[in-house]
Amino acid sequence: MTIPRAMAFTAALTLVSTASFAGPATPKPDPAKGRTLAERVCVACHAISKTPASTVASEVPSFPAIANKPGQSMEAIAGRIVIPHPPMPAIALTREEIVNVVAYIMTFKDAPETNP
Ligand code: HEC
Repeated sequence: MTIPRAMAFTAALTLVSTASFAGPATPKPDPAKGRTLAERVCVACHAISKTPASTVASEVPSFPAIANKPGQSMEAIAGRIVIPHPPMPAIALTREEIVNVVAYIMTFKDAPETNP
């Protein structure tokens, strides 16, 4: 009697962890796909490369600037994307798209400087 119950609980746990951001089913980040997405969605406001279009508003941080913020992490960037930032509209992205675009942003992270 108790064993099937435990199994059901384990199955439920597996489902939950699969749904979480860092779960085992999280797709492998694909920066190339992230770049395609950025070129489609983010480029309207952000400089998404080191050679930005001149039309990009200067108050919007560029992707290289975002990647090189002190203490920046993929989780922190993902958090900033998930929480809509005015005037950025709430852009509906799948978890896979977020992971990919974050991976793309992080390709601009410079080699770590000699840490103090
Ligand atoms: C309509 C304009 C607009 C679009 C489109 C847009 N952003 Fe933004 N984004 C902004 C502005 C403005 C800020 C700065 C506001 C702030 O710091 O809260 C910002 C900030 C950010 C930040 C936080 C930067 C930091 O300093 O930590 C991230 C990460 C980010 N955007 C990612 C994205 C991604 C990824 C996309 C495409 C999926 C995107 N944005 C599309 C306007 C936009």
